[in-house]
Amino acid sequence: MIKIAPSILSADFSKLGDEIKKVEQAGADLIHIDVMDGHFVPNLTIGPNVVAAVRNVTKLPFDVHLMVSNPQDLVLPFIEAGADILTVHAEAASHLHRIIETIKKGNKGSCQAGVSLNPATSIVWIEDILREVDLILLMSVNPGFGGQSFIPLVLEKIRRLKAQLKACNSNAVIEVDGGINANTAASVIEAGADILVAGSAIYGAKNCAAAIRQLKNAAAL
Ligand code: DX5
Ligand code: ZN
Repeated sequence: MIKIAPSILSADFSKLGDEIKKVEQAGADLIHIDVMDGHFVPNLTIGPNVVAAVRNVTKLPFDVHLMVSNPQDLVLPFIEAGADILTVHAEAASHLHRIIETIKKGNKGSCQAGVSLNPATSIVWIEDILREVDLILLMSVNPGFGGQSFIPLVLEKIRRLKAQLKACNSNAVIEVDGGINANTAASVIEAGADILVAGSAIYGAKNCAAAIRQLKNAAAL
C-alpha cells in the first residue's frame, strides 16, 4: 500500500501543531519536514528547535528532508529533535557513507537513513550504497519551493532504481517528492514509488482527507 507524507512546507506556519494534527486525522502516514538552509537551496525553513516543539503533537513518524550544505553538522541535532527518518542530499555530502552510518547509529539507532537525489543527479551516484540506506528520495522538482510542476524524466529513474533495488536485494523504499497531485500520482506509483510526498496538493485542498484518499487511490485508476 502506498504511503502518503504531507509536506508541512505548505502548511500554515502560524499554527503548525494544528496543521500536523489535521493531516494525521486525514489519513497521513508520515509527516514530511523540509529543512532548507538558504545555501544548498535558495530558501530558509525549519530548524531542530521547531521540530522538537511539534514532536509530541502527533504519533506519526517525522520524515526529515535535509536540503542543506554540510548535512553532517545537522544530523545529530535533528535526530535529538525527533526525526524518525533523516534524509541527506547526495550532492551535499562529501562523505555520504559516513553520514549514513552516523544517522543509523544516531540516538541508539532510533532513526532511519535516507539519501536524496536532485532530478539531474544520476542514480549511478548511489548504486554502491543501495543496501546501506533505508530510503531513497527522488526529487521530482528542483528543491527549494513547494507548488512546482512535476518533472517527468523522474519516472524512468524510479523504474531503473526499483529494478536495481530488487537486483541487489535491498529493502530500501522509494519516496518521490515534488509536484505530486491527483494527475501525477498514478504514473509515479506505477513506476514503483512506495511513499509520495505532497505539499500543495494536500494543504491547498479544501478537504485534506479527500486529497490524501485521492493520492492513495491513484494506483487503482
Ligand atoms: C521541495 C520540497 C518538497 C515540497 C513539495 O523542495 O522538498 O517536499 O514541499 O511541495 P509540492 O508537493 O507542493 O510540490
Ligand atoms: Zn521534501
